[in-house]
Amino acid sequence: MAKFYVTTPIYYVNDRPHIGHTYTTVLADVIARYRKLMGDDVFFLTGTDEHGQKVAQAAKKSGISPKEHCDMYSKRFKDLWKRLDIEFDYFVRTTDPQHEEVVKKALQYIYDKGDIYKDKYVGWYCVHDERFWTEKDLVGGKCPECGRDVVKIEEENYFFRMSKYQNWLIEYIESHKEFVQPDFRRNEVLGFLRKPLNDLCISRPKKRLSWGVELPFDTDYVAYVWVDALLNYVSAVGLYFDQAKFEKWWPADIHLIGKDILTTHAVYWPIILHALDLELPKTIFAHGWWLVSEQKMGKSLGNAVDPYALIEHIGVDQLRYYLMRDMVLGQDASYTLDGLVARLNNDLSNDLGNILSRVTNMIVSYCDGKLPHSGSITLQQTNEFLEKISNLVDDVSQKITELKIHAALESVNAAMRATNRYIEDTQPWKLAKSGEQEKLNEVLFQSTQVLAKAGILLYPVMPRKCRALLDALGFDGEISINEAKKDVLIKPGTTITKPKALFPKINLTKLSEALGVTEVSEKKEAKKEEQITINDFAKIELKVGKIVSARKAPNAEKLLLLDVDLGDEKRQLVAGIAKWYAPEELLGKNIVVLTNLKPAVIRGFESQGMLLAADDGENVVLITTDKPIAPGSKIR
Ligand code: MSP
Repeated sequence: MAKFYVTTPIYYVNDRPHIGHTYTTVLADVIARYRKLMGDDVFFLTGTDEHGQKVAQAAKKSGISPKEHCDMYSKRFKDLWKRLDIEFDYFVRTTDPQHEEVVKKALQYIYDKGDIYKDKYVGWYCVHDERFWTEKDLVGGKCPECGRDVVKIEEENYFFRMSKYQNWLIEYIESHKEFVQPDFRRNEVLGFLRKPLNDLCISRPKKRLSWGVELPFDTDYVAYVWVDALLNYVSAVGLYFDQAKFEKWWPADIHLIGKDILTTHAVYWPIILHALDLELPKTIFAHGWWLVSEQKMGKSLGNAVDPYALIEHIGVDQLRYYLMRDMVLGQDASYTLDGLVARLNNDLSNDLGNILSRVTNMIVSYCDGKLPHSGSITLQQTNEFLEKISNLVDDVSQKITELKIHAALESVNAAMRATNRYIEDTQPWKLAKSGEQEKLNEVLFQSTQVLAKAGILLYPVMPRKCRALLDALGFDGEISINEAKKDVLIKPGTTITKPKALFPKINLTKLSEALGVTEVSEKKEAKKEEQITINDFAKIELKVGKIVSARKAPNAEKLLLLDVDLGDEKRQLVAGIAKWYAPEELLGKNIVVLTNLKPAVIRGFESQGMLLAADDGENVVLITTDKPIAPGSKIR
């Protein structure tokens, strides 16, 4: 049995949990649950980050001790995770005595090695980000990260010789492609490492800030909160306390983080681990942000979406599904209420829920509530349907392994749409009327099997709803990928029951009223501003172009050079589509060309127009014409 250790960032206790935090934790839970379905032995860690100036200040403001403040906020996170059915194995708090002890031991180890030295420090300090900046880092005299005021600080502090490890880290990242993901984030980190790395100030004098872990080699200081926080990933699995446990789980298989904390995880953390003579995590995966009106959702902007309110009005599993389905892992996603309602109504009410209720209803009405036997296949539609879904389980498993969660869910949804079509095409209610029992049995039998497969494949995302679905189908097997691969999951003769509607349709207006959100109408207003007139559109000249030659652009691996026939003229286009199309498959295709665009020189090649393509963030496909038409035809 392979082991799998997955972590979330530990959350600051100065914020109420919002949808952003919820996303990372649900994502970790979904990955952990899929791994369990695949047969792995899983350890899933989350927790709270409780030291530092912000916490001390917040506690002071409320007139309570920092520890009381932490207990209260930490519980909020823990309670929310319970409410969301998050199956974490351990919840670490940086105020746990064992964690604090690990921080001390680790710092002593690095100190004894000679990698920590004391120096005078003069710099600018941002209280919000708890970071020091040099004069030249500042932007307009303010913090370059958050734009807030900074204070000048002059004091003696301890520094960690990170610069010593810079070249080692560059080499490590370059030779371990899976270490920082997605790829473009690896490049970002390597870009950051091209500049000289400053040594890291790892202490705060107690006279300024006492809410932290005391340095073992100088009790006048506490540890910098990030060093303390990062060590949670090893303290939680027993470093220095339980060697067997530590060896079982470390190194972590994946640290899931938001893109905001990439540098701390992909630069500080590996260097700290290396200095501690510990292995590095296999993968650090940075996901994007949930945005509201193009801005990062968060407390400071006052646009944080409250998960509790959503859970109350749409349900736990529906929220989990939306978060997983609507974010392409690695990229930003926009949170909108109408997007959420459309997603849940389409995928869950109209597809999955609808099929379940149709199939169970028919089995109850036409077959006395027992799944019928299905003999040899008699319908052409059955063959086509089985062909379409034959690869479903492998496809989903593969996508999950590649962390394409949204795509895995899309595959299950496509299988559901195919089932709906199968039922529409075969019209089992007519087969029942005309007494074609064998055909009727076949349709109900096959639809039930694929519903059970969907129930297993979606279980990690919607555990409660899927359990209810599988119960309605009388499934008593093991919820595992191996089981889902079987042809027959529900045996003939099994009692099938009609479940209560699993995914009632959501009414957008009612939901926005219940949530007290005016976002819908505001969004419409915003859209109005963006609208263009027909005259604006008339400025754009689009024509059908036939590709007559295509070749790779020399020395520019992403680009293709295309010659396009536009009826009365031929033009060269430079298109960044080499990743998605081989030159030979483009020949003879009719594409859409923007012809009145100013010519531009791209990597030394002139592009006399632009082709149109659709881009879902992952794939790019060309827009072509539905039927043959003469090159040069106008598009309007
Ligand atoms: N305490 C540090 C992490 C230390 S880990 C050793 C921290 N905490 S945080 O409370 O600010 O939470 C950060 C994480 O919450 C982000 O990395 C991200 O995973 C998640 N999110 C917070 N806001 C988010 C969005 N708007 N969108 C998506 N996730 C975001 O940083």
